[in-house]
Amino acid sequence: MISDRIKISVLAAMGGIIAVPASADFDAEAFPPYERCALCHGLFGESANAKFPHLGGQKAGYISAQINAFLNGRRHNDGGQMVNIVSELKPDEIPEVVEWFSSQDAPKPSGEGSATGAALYEQSGCDSCHGRTATFPDAPHLTAQHAGYLTKQMRDFRDGRRVSGMADIPHGRLMPEVDDAIADIAAYLSSVARQ
Ligand code: HEC
Ligand code: HEC
Repeated sequence: MISDRIKISVLAAMGGIIAVPASADFDAEAFPPYERCALCHGLFGESANAKFPHLGGQKAGYISAQINAFLNGRRHNDGGQMVNIVSELKPDEIPEVVEWFSSQDAPKPSGEGSATGAALYEQSGCDSCHGRTATFPDAPHLTAQHAGYLTKQMRDFRDGRRVSGMADIPHGRLMPEVDDAIADIAAYLSSVARQ
C-alpha cells in the first residue's frame, strides 16, 4: 500500500511537471527572446532562405550595431521587417540575442564559387577589412553567407540604399559597378568555409 504522504508528494511532483509546460505555453516571457528571430534566421542562426542572412557565428559587435541601426532607422534596406521586431526587444534582451547568435557555429559554405569571383574579391581589397586577420573593428564575416543576401547588400551599398553606419568609409564606392562582378564575388564568398 502506498502511504498517503507518498501519494500526495507524487501528485505534487506530477502537478509541478505538468504545470511548467502549461504555463510556458501561455507566457510569452517564458521564451528566450532569440526564439522570436528563429522564424526567419533559424534558431541557431542558420537560415533556410537567402532573403534572411545567416547570423550564426557573426561578430557580436556587428550584430549589435545592425540591431541599433534598424532601431534608429539608419538601416532600412530590409523592406521594414526588422524595425518592428527589434523594437519589441527590451533593452536587456539585446545583449542576450547578440550573445546567442554570435556564439553559434558559423553557417556551412554552399555553392561552387569561381576563380573570377575570388580574383575580383582579392583585387578590390575587401579582405583588408573583412579577412580573417583584418583589424577593422567588427567588419562582418562574409564567408559562408548566402550568396543572394550578399549580392543584394553589395548592390544596396553601391546604389546608396544602404550606408555604413559603423565607419565613415565610402563603402558603396568600393563595390564593382557591374552586377555580374558583384554576383561572382558573392558566389565565391558563399562557397568559402569561415575560418
Ligand atoms: C520576419 C522575418 C524576420 C525576423 C522574425 C527577424 N528578422 Fe532579422 N532580418 C530580416 C531581414 C529581411 C533582414 C535584412 C535583409 C536585407 O537587408 O536584405 C534581416 C537582417 C538582420 C540582421 C543583419 C544581419 C547582417 O548580416 O547584416 C540582424 C543582425 C538581424 N536581422 C537580427 C535579428 C534578430 C536579433 C531578430 C529577433 C529579435 C530578427 N532579426 C528577426 C528578417 C527577419
Ligand atoms: C575599410 C574597410 C572595408 C572595406 C575595404 C570593405 N568593407 Fe565591406 N564592410 C565594412 C564594414 C565596417 C561593414 C559594416 C557596414 C555597416 O555599418 O553596416 C561592411 C559590410 C559589408 C557587407 C554587408 C554584410 C552583411 O552581413 O550585411 C558586405 C556584403 C560587404 N561589406 C562587402 C564588401 C566587399 C565585397 C568589399 C570589397 C569590394 C568590401 N566590403 C570592402 C568594411 C569594409
